[in-house]
Amino acid sequence: MLMTVQDFETAARTRLDPVHADFIAGGAGDEITVRANEEAFRRLRLLPRVLRGNTERTLDITVLGSRARTPILLSPTAFHKLLVEEGELATARAASAVGAIMIVSMASTVAVEDIAEATRGAGEDGAPATLWFQLYLQPDLEFTRSLVRRATDAGCTALVVTVDSPVRGAHERDLRNGFLDLPDGLRCEHMVDPREGGRVRPIAMSAEISWKHIDWLRGITSLPILLKGALHPEDARLAVRHGVDGLLLSNHGGRQLDTVPATIELLPEIHTAVAGRIPIVLDGGVRRGTDVVKALALGASAVGIGRPVMWALAEGGEKGLRRLLELLRAELDQALALCGASGVQDLSPDLVRAPVWPPSATPLGGAVS
Ligand SMILES: Cc1cc2nc3c(=O)[nH]c(=O)nc-3n(C[C@H](O)[C@H](O)[C@H](O)COP(=O)(O)O)c2cc1C
Repeated sequence: MLMTVQDFETAARTRLDPVHADFIAGGAGDEITVRANEEAFRRLRLLPRVLRGNTERTLDITVLGSRARTPILLSPTAFHKLLVEEGELATARAASAVGAIMIVSMASTVAVEDIAEATRGAGEDGAPATLWFQLYLQPDLEFTRSLVRRATDAGCTALVVTVDSPVRGAHERDLRNGFLDLPDGLRCEHMVDPREGGRVRPIAMSAEISWKHIDWLRGITSLPILLKGALHPEDARLAVRHGVDGLLLSNHGGRQLDTVPATIELLPEIHTAVAGRIPIVLDGGVRRGTDVVKALALGASAVGIGRPVMWALAEGGEKGLRRLLELLRAELDQALALCGASGVQDLSPDLVRAPVWPPSATPLGGAVS
């Protein structure tokens, strides 16, 4: 029986081409950060409150104007048609069925317009699914501008700009497997350039991208902008200064620079750096409802999941993903109840402890409350 994210991973691995399973599971270099993300969550301990009399809990959130029925959103991941014939249409339908925000990857194998169309009316009270659009800023600014326009016209309610990729991370599993390109018949729909007769452009990961480009983007869109992949507190402060609306605190699931810290370990410091001026969404290693509680208690407004989405799609398509999202939501609800919380807004850093020796009564996020 599929009861946990781990069950979905195990089941998906029996169905997937091992090369594709490696593509999903793998990370950069020695995959130290891949493992660290999950291990860091496991190291933290929850310290619940009792006798709170909370019989009902709300899991609803609003982040940067986007409402959701769960604080677990779908981080952007590439190439869903590798896993399921319908590709990102299946992902979006499952997300909207549970009221989750989906971040559409720039490297999606279905166009954002088609994703929006397929989920029209599928959201709460007939509203469309809530979609955000992830972008790697391309040095060809006119092309980037056209992508921003497409995402906006399709109804996306935020832009997520991934900034941890001046060059591609070294995915040694993929290199060894010779998995360097999409199979014939699949393509990144957002990279089709009508100005060049429909040529599919490669996604440029460019070291020339700088804060100037963020200023440029700020000037051409009124959509909220989240930066994905800024890890240093000084960059978090710069983001605020450059008019960024939110952070997606992410180390790309350990797929860019290996040996960077686990995101949950960085959260208190980043939370202090932005001092409540902009919301923080965190991804990397979230596998349990208790992980979500820990991240929210330490100051995140929501969390994202990457690999679990892909395992669930590979295992059971739209239905499989819907089941996984419901399971995680139920785990979160139970963990909130056991913490004595009335909902996701009712969590504070004193609920989280890091085991240290000699024992200390200092709450982990003490500095941020
Ligand atoms: C197979 C795969 C593809 C990904 N593709 C993208 C992408 O296109 N854009 C992006 O910003 N991040 C991408 N990511 C990173 C995720 O958005 C996210 O940061 C990461 O997966 C979170 O960690 P988790 O997998 O431990 O949940 C990808 C991750 C995986 C595993």
